[in-house]
Parts: sequence; C-alpha cells; structure tokens
Amino acid sequence: MELEKVIIERHSTRAFLEVPIPRETMDKLLFLSTRGPSAINLQPWEFTVVMGEERERLSRVLVKAMRERNISCGPDAVRPLPKYFMDRQRKLMDCILPSLDKETDFQEFINEGSCNFYGAPVAIILTIDRAFSKSRLVDAGIAVGYMVLAAHNMGLGTCPIGLINAFAEEIREMLNIPDEKNIVIGIAVGYPDPDSPVNRAISERTPIHEVARFY
Ligand SMILES: Cc1cc2nc3c(=O)[nH]c(=O)nc-3n(C[C@H](O)[C@H](O)[C@H](O)COP(=O)(O)O)c2cc1C
Repeated sequence: MELEKVIIERHSTRAFLEVPIPRETMDKLLFLSTRGPSAINLQPWEFTVVMGEERERLSRVLVKAMRERNISCGPDAVRPLPKYFMDRQRKLMDCILPSLDKETDFQEFINEGSCNFYGAPVAIILTIDRAFSKSRLVDAGIAVGYMVLAAHNMGLGTCPIGLINAFAEEIREMLNIPDEKNIVIGIAVGYPDPDSPVNRAISERTPIHEVARFY
C-alpha cells in the first residue's frame, strides 16, 4: 500500500476479532517496527509479546488492579493543561461516544477496554533499559509509530495503551520483566472487527497553522 494512504487510513482499533495472529506475522511486524531510526543505532526498544491464555491472564490482573485502585485514563500531565489541550481531549470523547451503546459509560469503556487490550489477541509491552535517559523515549515512540503503520499495511489494527503504565508493578511481576527495564507503553494488536461502530470513529487533527510556525 502507498505510504501516504497507510498514514491517512490508520486509526486506533478498539474492537478486535477473536482471531489469533500467526507467529510469522508477529515476527514480520516486529521486524518492520525496528527498521526505524534510533540515536547512534542503540535500538533501545525491547518487546514482551503476550498472546493466548497469558494475554487473558494479563488483562484479568490489569482490570482487577484498575478497579481496586480506581485508575482512569488521563493526560498524565505534571501541571494543569491549557484549555486548547483539554478541548482536544473532549473532541476525542465526542468522536467515540456516538459509536458506543447508549448505556455504555465512555470513561469505563476506555478504562476497561484499555486494560483488556480491547480484546486483541496480542498485547505488546514495550520496555527500555533504565540506564537510558528520557531522551531514548523518542526512539521507543518512533518504533511504536512504525509498528502502527506497518500493522495497518498488513491488515492488522492497533491501539497504543498508555494506561498500562499505572500498573507497571503488576505487569513486571506477571511477565518477569526485570527491575532494570522501564515499562514504556502497551500496544494492542489484532484483526479489526469490521462490524464494530467504534472502529469507524475517526479522530480529528488540529490544523497545521495552529501547531507549526515557519521562519
Ligand atoms: C502514547 C499513547 C498512549 C495512548 N494510550 C491509550 C490508552 O490507554 N487507551 C486508549 O484507548 N487509547 C490510547 N491511545 C490512543 C489515542 O487515544 C489515539 O491515538 C488518539 O486519540 C488519536 O486517534 P487515532 O489513533 O485513532 O488516530 C494512546 C495513544 C498514544 C500515542
């Protein structure tokens, strides 16, 4: 598929088919995800790929922890955000809400859905070694960017799941992720459910003149 088409078409998938992904397909996806640039080619990204019964178990642990600790998806900001950022968050809710059943609470859908990787057959946990500074999160982000695009090109859907960061300790324990590895983000991967209205919710983008300055 043409790159521009892939970039424009890709959007987060929040409903997946119960169809497992073959191991070779996952190998190819990870191969393409790691073809991106990284500082000094350090390739700081590391992936824990969780499938099958282990994926189910991971979700059970996360949903339980989320309910017990009353954790909710949010901007994770260190101080109050200017209104225009909050407006973008509200617009995302306005975009997704009409695709949900009337009785579904939006925040609950996002919180439970995120902890459940929206039912995707594969959950990827991306980690980087604690020896790296925060700068290397850029490299990890590039790998996620490549992954979501490569996945779309392969007929797969993805949803990055930042909420899992709140449960780093539970994940670390369950998946034997050593202390020296920092949990960066989760990514749900699977075949999108074409009949689910939530997969047809396409979020807006701010016009370029509001986010770019030219000198
Ligand atoms: C770092 C990061 C963390 C995210 N965390 C979550 C999450 O926890 N739950 C969720 O449903 N979506 C999550 N998303 C998906 C965003 O909501 C989504 O990318 C954004 O609304 C733009 O929509 P699009 O991906 O459909 O273009 C995350 C995306 C990124 C890049």
